[in-house]
Amino acid sequence: EMAELGNYRHFMQKEIHEQPRALADTLHDAVAGESLLPELFGVEAGEVFGCINAVTILACGTSFHAGKVASYWIEALAGIPCRAEIASEYRYRDSVANPDALLITLSQSGETADTLAALNHAKTLGHQHTLSICNVPESALVRQSRLRFLTRAGPEIGVASTKAFTTQLAALFLLTLLLAKQRGRLTPAAEVAHIQALRQLPGKVQQVLALEPEVERWAERFADKQHALFLGRGMHYPIAMEGALKLKEISYIHAEAYPAGELKHGPLALVDKDMPVVAIAPNDILLEKLKSNLQEVRARGGELYVFADADTHIVPSEGIHVLQLADHAGPLSPILHTIPLQMLSYHAALQKGTDVDKPRNLAKSVTVE
Ligand code: G6P
Repeated sequence: EMAELGNYRHFMQKEIHEQPRALADTLHDAVAGESLLPELFGVEAGEVFGCINAVTILACGTSFHAGKVASYWIEALAGIPCRAEIASEYRYRDSVANPDALLITLSQSGETADTLAALNHAKTLGHQHTLSICNVPESALVRQSRLRFLTRAGPEIGVASTKAFTTQLAALFLLTLLLAKQRGRLTPAAEVAHIQALRQLPGKVQQVLALEPEVERWAERFADKQHALFLGRGMHYPIAMEGALKLKEISYIHAEAYPAGELKHGPLALVDKDMPVVAIAPNDILLEKLKSNLQEVRARGGELYVFADADTHIVPSEGIHVLQLADHAGPLSPILHTIPLQMLSYHAALQKGTDVDKPRNLAKSVTVE
């Protein structure tokens, strides 16, 4: 194991830094030309994409968060109703089946018991249009699905998922574009522009990785905290959920994510100087709303740690720490905003001296119920 680590202290850190390569490999075939082909998802994908009227995404843990981001993309860009659901909930509830839905299971390992059971449950309800997005080619989930997309993150060893998550997002974005194209919602010019943005994505992730020393200094201030709150809005709310999950998993600091507009309905009561509040601040249509949410936190003495796009004009001041990312990346922004949150939890865990790659009570792949 040591040899594989190279110059890194932990697999998680190595895997965080492998993301530009993992994304480039995952996107390689898709961005080779000027046009996206449904066959990226399997030979029957064109036919299936043409006959579906809804999308259901089933997954667990970090993979579920990728599904949540995709539900925003698919509704906004492809105009198809989409929901993401936790696999262990779906498999045990009486849901209304829609045989015309595309049923996606998302998984790094392809062996998660709840996700496999959810797929089988969906099939018994009449779902035929099954797609698995997975990082392990020979896994059970891939074998049991009609369509497939394999992410090329490479083996992920750290229990806390990093590169598997961002490559899942890349795959889901490709899917979104294909569904949009199929429905006549993607002009050729827009398609070329998206492909161009995807080609630039690994380089942009590399730039965010360069913020590590600054994120590390922030992490030092988290290590002695009991709680943290993560705020995001829109398609960055699931990214806030993922940031909170990462911090919980490896640093054992209690963390919760909230869509910032919900602050006033509860969590604001918890805010004081001892609970750091992490905010994801992309320059999207919700920016002004988010800024006023942040003021509410500041007015209660909360200490803010803001990951802000360059063009948001959020300036550091007393109790407001700001780390600046590049200009807003449009729909790919959730992928870029994930990176500093991974680094924050990694360095907070390092400070606390936890077993980063093998956190207590957790397993890499949960193959039992
Ligand atoms: C476990 C891992 C998580 C992972 C989840 C789902 O809980 O610790 O990191 O997100 O399983 O795993 P999957 O392989 O299905 O993506």
